[in-house]
Amino acid sequence: MKIALGSDHGGFNLKNLIIDHLKQKGIECEDLGCHSTDSCDYPEFGLKVAKAVKSKEYDFGIIVCGTGIGISIAANKVPGIRAAHCTDSFTARATRQHNNSNILALGERITGPSIALDIVDAFLSTDFEGGRHEKRVNMIEEIEKEYLK
Ligand code: RB5
Repeated sequence: MKIALGSDHGGFNLKNLIIDHLKQKGIECEDLGCHSTDSCDYPEFGLKVAKAVKSKEYDFGIIVCGTGIGISIAANKVPGIRAAHCTDSFTARATRQHNNSNILALGERITGPSIALDIVDAFLSTDFEGGRHEKRVNMIEEIEKEYLK
């Protein structure tokens, strides 16, 4: 499994913790920035990870900002990206099962480190259920197509 990670300054420390956690588990990671706690703009890194996941070079993306919200809004502007902002492992599991989410978004300022790692593990170890959920994910793609016209 190959994961692309990105954050702004508000998510920098949690992103590094996640990278250490994934590397310990033998999961391949690529840090697409930012690379310090200097102030920067979350849309830039949401877009980088979204493009990386869309290219299919990576299985999933993990993005972190202060709240997890701004960076997920940015990533979700890329067609085919389903970035889910999660604050607990139930939601992380459900969004994989039902929404086939391909990016996990976390907020360093709202989710503690242990819970965040638990969310990461739940997200990465859960498969899409397909079936009735497939139709609904396809409906999201139809909405994208409508606005790409
Ligand atoms: C940065 O201060 C902060 O606005 C950002 O990390 C994020 O929370 C935006 O949604």
